[in-house]
Amino acid sequence: MPRFVSTATAAASRQAHSYLLAGTPASRFAALPAGCRGKATLSGSNVKTPAFAFDMDGVLIRGGKALPNARRALEKLRGDNPQNKEIPFIVLTNSGGESEASKAEKLSRKLGLKIDESQFIISSTPMRTLVPKHRNDLVHVVGPHACKALAQKYGFKNVLTSREIRDWNRHAWPFHVRGDEHPQEPAPHDLANTPVGAILIMHDPPDWGLDIQLIMDLLLSHRGDVTTRRNPLSVAESLSSSSSSDPGLPPIPLYSSNADFLWANEHPHPRLGQGGFLAALRGVWAQMVDDPAAQLPITTQFGKPSAPTYDYAKRVLGDGVVGGVDAVGDVYMIGDNPESDIRGANANGWVGVLVETGVYKHGDALDGGRKPAVVVKDVEAAVDWVLEKEGVLN
Ligand code: G3P
Ligand code: MG
Repeated sequence: MPRFVSTATAAASRQAHSYLLAGTPASRFAALPAGCRGKATLSGSNVKTPAFAFDMDGVLIRGGKALPNARRALEKLRGDNPQNKEIPFIVLTNSGGESEASKAEKLSRKLGLKIDESQFIISSTPMRTLVPKHRNDLVHVVGPHACKALAQKYGFKNVLTSREIRDWNRHAWPFHVRGDEHPQEPAPHDLANTPVGAILIMHDPPDWGLDIQLIMDLLLSHRGDVTTRRNPLSVAESLSSSSSSDPGLPPIPLYSSNADFLWANEHPHPRLGQGGFLAALRGVWAQMVDDPAAQLPITTQFGKPSAPTYDYAKRVLGDGVVGGVDAVGDVYMIGDNPESDIRGANANGWVGVLVETGVYKHGDALDGGRKPAVVVKDVEAAVDWVLEKEGVLN
């Protein structure tokens, strides 16, 4: 049984990683998509199999299009190499905003190669580990509307969107927001009598203004009761361990799925990501609590380079190989973003391989934890470099 999923949670969250739970290693192995069976471990010997984690934006695709050689690179891991070896790989992306299945399906169509949902980790996937704690809480989900269904699919029973909070009290944000052209829906939850238990930023918010206002209201409320407002200074005090008097309970938990300040799409210059939103949110928070150095009270930061995401990915990789995570040798993170992909790989004992098809531009600084094992022109060159190093090409 994988370590991180309790039987109850396993029962609740089945989709993307259902093979993680069922039966013996051999039957789990049989249930795996082809590209996930590291043959090396079959012989029960302690030969470890290398494994790959591919970033998506700027490595496999850029905007709506597959990057050249991306399909060829993956085919080499599906046995098209001199030793016909199948090497396990996952896609580990900070993007999100829709289900793993739909992302995997779209990427498979762009590449013309089947990527299974079980091989796909988006920025919010590791938030599944929050379900045991917040299953029955009312959780405010920030991100595109599709995040509501995704949170429910993960196992959160009571999910509330920013639009629904605003529909409950239009004065909360008296400016036009996306969807205002549609008739106002009755708010599904009576927020006067139902406190919000946690805030999950599941993907880059489409409406920064609305979401900054609503998150502020909740962080400054009494334990998630949106009809209340605490003194911001005492809230800030409740967060600092050195407070003298009893400043009351800290704000409700705030989770973020990724902190990418920039990401690469069709635009010639990288775009602001969720990290840009977090920077704006922190600016307002610091002014609100009258402390320029104040940090956002984020309970858990997910997404590359954070450890919770790499731990989750390690388990998914491990459970794709007979013998589990102990049978996985070096894990190669192929990424375009030194700040998330390479810093994360270095901090989590993986090998970082940086490509020049996305955020990173030749000559950009690669110091302080962002130094990759090698910089190569694209994803196929990255796979070749690893297969050469692992002796698979001879
Ligand atoms: O943060 C934005 C996200 O789209 C970056 O995706 O695949 O480069 O981690 P990826
Ligand atoms: Mg990228």
